[in-house]
Amino acid sequence: MTTNMLTQTVREDLQIVQDTLNDIRCLAKLYYLLHHPRSTDKLMDESYDSLKELNLKEIGYALTSVLDLERVFPLVNNITVCGTGSLSGIIVLVDGDEVQLKAAKGLPSHVANDAVFKVGDGAIGWVVKCGKSLVIDDIEKDLRFNKQQFQWYLGKTVLCVPIKARGRVVGVISVNSKKSGDGYTDNDVRFLETIAAYVAIAIRNTDLYERLKNPSKLDHFTSTYHDKNNTYLPVTLRSIKTGAFAGCDLYLQTVVNDENKYLLYCKGNKLFADERKESFVKKNINKIYVAKNGNGQYLRYMEINLEQVVRDEMATLHERIHIVYEVATNMMTDALKDSSVGIAVERARDWTTVALDFMLKDKEVYSHLMEMLTYDGNVLRHSVNTAILGLLFGYYLEMPVNDLLTLGTGLLLHDIGKAKIDHYMIKKDMEELTKEEREQMRKHTDLGFILLSNSGNLGREACLIAKQHHERYDGKGYPESLKGEEIHYYSRITRILDEFEIRMSRITGNDSNSAFNVLQNMVKGMEGSFDKEILKKFIDFLQVSTGEESDEALHKVVELVE
Ligand SMILES: [Fe+2]
Ligand SMILES: [Fe+2]
Repeated sequence: MTTNMLTQTVREDLQIVQDTLNDIRCLAKLYYLLHHPRSTDKLMDESYDSLKELNLKEIGYALTSVLDLERVFPLVNNITVCGTGSLSGIIVLVDGDEVQLKAAKGLPSHVANDAVFKVGDGAIGWVVKCGKSLVIDDIEKDLRFNKQQFQWYLGKTVLCVPIKARGRVVGVISVNSKKSGDGYTDNDVRFLETIAAYVAIAIRNTDLYERLKNPSKLDHFTSTYHDKNNTYLPVTLRSIKTGAFAGCDLYLQTVVNDENKYLLYCKGNKLFADERKESFVKKNINKIYVAKNGNGQYLRYMEINLEQVVRDEMATLHERIHIVYEVATNMMTDALKDSSVGIAVERARDWTTVALDFMLKDKEVYSHLMEMLTYDGNVLRHSVNTAILGLLFGYYLEMPVNDLLTLGTGLLLHDIGKAKIDHYMIKKDMEELTKEEREQMRKHTDLGFILLSNSGNLGREACLIAKQHHERYDGKGYPESLKGEEIHYYSRITRILDEFEIRMSRITGNDSNSAFNVLQNMVKGMEGSFDKEILKKFIDFLQVSTGEESDEALHKVVELVE
């Protein structure tokens, strides 16, 4: 059989065997190096002291080639204990608040098994917390640590270095007591830090390898979309009726001579009614296809699979939040140019449901979402930012889930009236518009309300957000100059979020202070415009979200509001 005849699977299996052999070869070599430091081997023709320097590359290669971390840790522990000439050594990994022992050498097993590590406690805990290397010359005399914490250490000297991956401490390598009785030198610190850097790469490689073996849903959908052999995408029935693929030409798949062929089944401009959907079900047609046509459609494809993507822990939080954000921005692109508001409402509601669920299930999402908002003055992003800010703020206010859903959907669509305004106008700043253009622009509130109300599938409270979000608390807003609580609660919230988002987009740079500076200018320049009670809560919310405890800018805003 020639190589060309090998199937892809066989080739992949062969690659795994080859990689494993490489692994074994490297490990064997490493073992040899460690156990025969004074060998006459060309590579080993050096003194034991310089071995560790000369062979760091080999060690690094071996460590980063091994894809099973459980094999890496004992190996690393041997290297660091032998390489520094120590009596004992341990390696721990950090998992959230827990610090777990991964390898121990030179300690009786009962001691190694009983040792407990806590973030911030003892030498190991100190390194986890501070992320710096630590050298202790005499355990007895070091006032930073309690002697009790060292009861199982041999001798008096300790060296610990952090293992850092993606900027976080993920573990610690520690050695204890040099056989020579000397203290640890700068060279020892450098040696351990280099090994720690290799371990960090090994951890990352294992991560990548795991991902290769079990690709995340995000990777799966992305590669399905970008698969060049397939120019058609499978879509769901719901997504072609009221979702992201409504209005697309639909195709059916058939197999001719072992090859997939796609037949046009129905043109996109034909209404895809319930009867048609049922006829699909009756005929047992459960897969319908659309032709691929670019990035917007890729995001629509991710939109119909968003629920699976956000739940999949194989993708990082950052990747999942990013896709949630991009999907919403793409949805708003369609909403502002598409004439079907009913579909825009359905899609906005679906997105809000998934985003809310994602946010409620994982506290980390809450804090990351706030950090990932991009304020760039883009009219589409403005709606998405306002909606995300609203969901986070509403959650902070402990609003019930159903209210959050209404608020989030209404916020996403609050400027939908702009779909009916000349597009050259909506890209401009309010200040750049002529008096007539400004009058035109102001109509987006009534237009939005009419569009949403006529869609028949959005509650009145959410429709009112579109109508009232430019009303001012003091009655000087538009379109109806409503005052105080005549304006719906959600619309009063939206007034604050809308103005805050627009002003955040106008500043350059984005540190934690900028939010409070923006608020300060907003309150100063627009006195009477906002509901003070909601504004005070919004300041509290920003304080919690940005982690600013006591800030000068913040106090100034609070004073202004009082
Ligand atoms: Fe608006
Ligand atoms: Fe707006």
